[in-house]
Parts: sequence; C-alpha cells; structure tokens
Amino acid sequence: MMSNGKALSASATRTSPPSNQAGKRLVSGAPASWEIKRLLWSILENTLYRYSFRAWSGWRVFLLRCFGAKIGKWCAIHRTSRVYYPWLLEMGDLVALGERATIYNIGRIVLGARSTISQEAYLCAGTHDYTRISMPLAVAPITVGSDAWICARAFVNPGMNIGNGAVVAAGAVVTRDVSAWTVVIGNPARMIRVREILDQ
Ligand SMILES: CC(C)(COP(=O)(O)OP(=O)(O)OC[C@H]1O[C@@H](n2cnc3c(N)ncnc32)[C@H](O)[C@@H]1OP(=O)(O)O)[C@@H](O)C(=O)NCCC(=O)NCCS
Repeated sequence: MMSNGKALSASATRTSPPSNQAGKRLVSGAPASWEIKRLLWSILENTLYRYSFRAWSGWRVFLLRCFGAKIGKWCAIHRTSRVYYPWLLEMGDLVALGERATIYNIGRIVLGARSTISQEAYLCAGTHDYTRISMPLAVAPITVGSDAWICARAFVNPGMNIGNGAVVAAGAVVTRDVSAWTVVIGNPARMIRVREILDQ
C-alpha cells in the first residue's frame, strides 16, 4: 500500500506534470510528403538495400543519398543496418554502420568521421511526451563525434551528444552527454576511464 507521502507526491505529479521533456522538440506528426518518401524508402530498404551483396556498401550509400542522406567518402554500411529517415542522416568519411544497427532518426542524427556504430546499437532520436495523455511525438537530434565508437547493443537516448573519440560500451544506455575521449559503461552509462591512444 502507498504511504501518505507517496500518495501526496503522486497527486502533485498529476496536477503539475514534471518538465522532463525539456530540450526535446514536440511534433504533432510528420509532414505528408515524408509519409510518401518513407514508404518508398522502406520498400527499397527491405529489398534492394537489404538483399545486396555484403561488399556493396557503395550501392547502399547511393540508395541512401538518393533519399537525401549526406554521406562522406569510404563509409561501410552493412546491408542489415536500418535507417528510418535517410534525409535526416549525416555521416562523415569512413563511418561504419554495423549489422542490424538502427538509426531511428526521426530527429537528425549526425555521425562524425571515422565513427563506428557496432552490431545492434540503437540510436534513438525520438520519444513521446508521456506528461500529456495524447503522447505527442518529441524529437531530439543525436550527434556522434569523430572517432567515437558505439559498441554492440548500446542504446543512445534522444538528444545525446557523444563526444569525439568517446567509447560507449556494449549494452550501455546513454542518458547523459558523453565527454570526448572517455569510455562509458552500464545503464545508465557512467565514465570508467579516459580513452588513451597509444599509436600516434
Ligand atoms: C567498452 C570496452 C571497449 C571496454 O574495454 P576495456 O577498456 O578493456 O575495459 P575492461 O575490460 O578493462 O573493463 C573495465 C571495467 O568495465 C567493465 N565493463 C567492460 N565492458 C563492459 C560492458 N560492456 N558493460 C558493463 N561493464 C563493462 C568491466 O567489468 C570492468 O569492471 P571492473 O573494473 O569492475 O572489473 C569493452 O568492454 C566493450 O564493451 N567492447 C565492445 C565490444 C563490441 O561491441 N564489439 C563489437 C565488434 S564491432
């Protein structure tokens, strides 16, 4: 049973919802033109993109660019990776997007040069404002700095900035910005060390 204190704080929450969605932009729905583009893209993504040779990264880059993605040179994009809205994706040179990595870019996602997004990592640039009963969509961009590594199965929350050279460990959940050249682990992700580069 709930104590009085807890009941009181629950009722206060109902009358004055917390503003924990600060920094996220609310959107009522995607423009109609997006729906058409998104449909066409998902047809291509589930056919020509998905069922292409593993080595044909250039082909997948071409398809993404046709739908408005800004992609640098020599990127390696796995055929099972998933990009929701190519026109809201920017990648520098030499970016690697791994097997079943998901770019849920309802808000813009920028991947810096030489960054690596490993297997099944999930970059999530959208959420819902649960303080309103209609749960409107809220978008917040994600930036991954140059030389950063998002390890396998990591989850990056909307609005996060991952600094240059940062390492987000396998399975980590990023709920705060990650400083440049640090290694973070766990849920919520916390820094364990500075990333040292020994071969320069
Ligand atoms: C982030 C990572 C690179 C850190 O490696 P490291 O610097 O050698 O770290 P260590 O193995 O020395 O571990 C340091 C501490 O972090 C913990 N740790 C390491 N990786 C962790 C993880 N993914 N989740 C939670 N804790 C982790 C270790 O248990 C250790 O804790 P302790 O000090 O209490 O014993 C590595 O653990 C990792 O996640 N690699 C990703 C592998 C991957 O995604 N591969 C895809 C191939 S493309």
